[in-house]
Amino acid sequence: ARLSVRDALGAQSTSGERVKVQGWIRSVRSQKEVLFLHINDGSSLESLQVVADSSFDNRELAFGSSVEVQGQLVKSPSKKQNMELKAEKIEVVGNCDATDNGFVHIHTPIITSNDCEGAGELFQVEPSSKIKMPEENFFNVPAFLTVSGQLHLEVMSGAFTQVFTFGPTFRAENSQSRRHLAEFYMVEAEISFVESLQDLMQVMEGLFKTATMMVLSNCPEDVELCHKFIAPGQKERLEHMLKNNFLIISYTEAVEILKQSSQNFTFTPEWGVDLHTEHEKYLVKHCGNIPVFVINYPLALKPFYMRDNEDGPQHTVAAVDLLVPGVGELFGGSLREERYHFLEQRLARSGLTETYQWYLDLRRFGSVPHGGFGMGFERYLQCILGIDNIKDVIPFPRFTHSCIL
Ligand code: 4AD
Ligand code: MG
Repeated sequence: ARLSVRDALGAQSTSGERVKVQGWIRSVRSQKEVLFLHINDGSSLESLQVVADSSFDNRELAFGSSVEVQGQLVKSPSKKQNMELKAEKIEVVGNCDATDNGFVHIHTPIITSNDCEGAGELFQVEPSSKIKMPEENFFNVPAFLTVSGQLHLEVMSGAFTQVFTFGPTFRAENSQSRRHLAEFYMVEAEISFVESLQDLMQVMEGLFKTATMMVLSNCPEDVELCHKFIAPGQKERLEHMLKNNFLIISYTEAVEILKQSSQNFTFTPEWGVDLHTEHEKYLVKHCGNIPVFVINYPLALKPFYMRDNEDGPQHTVAAVDLLVPGVGELFGGSLREERYHFLEQRLARSGLTETYQWYLDLRRFGSVPHGGFGMGFERYLQCILGIDNIKDVIPFPRFTHSCIL
């Protein structure tokens, strides 16, 4: 018989009859001898516990996959639920491989009214002048191409705990550098209940290393071709990055290190001033060409959403940048200011209170410590392929004075 999750949970008898339950996996817990799944089909707020032998192939049994489970309903030994399903057969109906580690893929919008980074480097979106609008403008508020999906991810992390997005982002940075584009892709993640930069850095390092190992094993010929003709020795440099633990230094320590070599730089390193590309590249060399996390930047240098460290006169925020060989900054992230009054004051100081009322509301209703990060995809390609100029890792680069085609 086919039962809904609700009927299965409410079943009274344990006649040993075989039943079939269909639904989506809400959690997977694999122990030495047993595998626990929780599945739900929307018929009940509670999920049904499925208990399987650990010999079941669990590779496709991921959060979000849809499954059909056949087996026997039995009284659960646990007080948490009345019945559980002893699985004899588990069939994956549709897998859900975008939710590795339980991260849910969110499509964040490209057109938005917020300026997440607060840097004012926005491209504005308006209908072409031929279109007659009855109102002043199309959306009634100024709208822009997104600089980051972070604020939308923060909303969704309040529902799914761990979320990510991968999409185009746009910045009107007037920069002709070897690592800036006006249109680039970003992988962003947001995680609820993260309380320390340590936890966040673990995810960042894990993402870099896992992605790189997957690239190396799935497309070795492409990578080798690039390394051979463009970046000899890059394979060894990559292996060096993969086998070492990434390092961690504070912004204050970084400035001290830079000051000792001031003569090497065009821009004089100074506490309270942002790190320049040349500074970042020097720091990575100084760290033996192992990627290095720089943490706790001055509050004055960073956007309104970063968490205040409340550390006296220095006044830093829980920010983290990951610097990598050849590129410098590859990831930017932080713990978010989840405390209502702190955030309210920060917004008020920047005159943003009204615009970000909805963002403040996230701190009024069930706020949790959380944090996240973004990794520039083209810079990632530069780093693993050893390509010096970002314009060479993308077929149609857009940058200042250049949008041909
Ligand atoms: O450090 P950024 O500005 O951080 C954010 O946007 C955060 N809201 C992300 C988050 O926490 N969800 O940008 C993140 C990364 C940078 O470290 C860099 O790799 C890349 O995006 N990036 C660029 N890549 C190419 N061209 C540009 N103009 C870039 N600006 C940033
Ligand atoms: Mg940054």
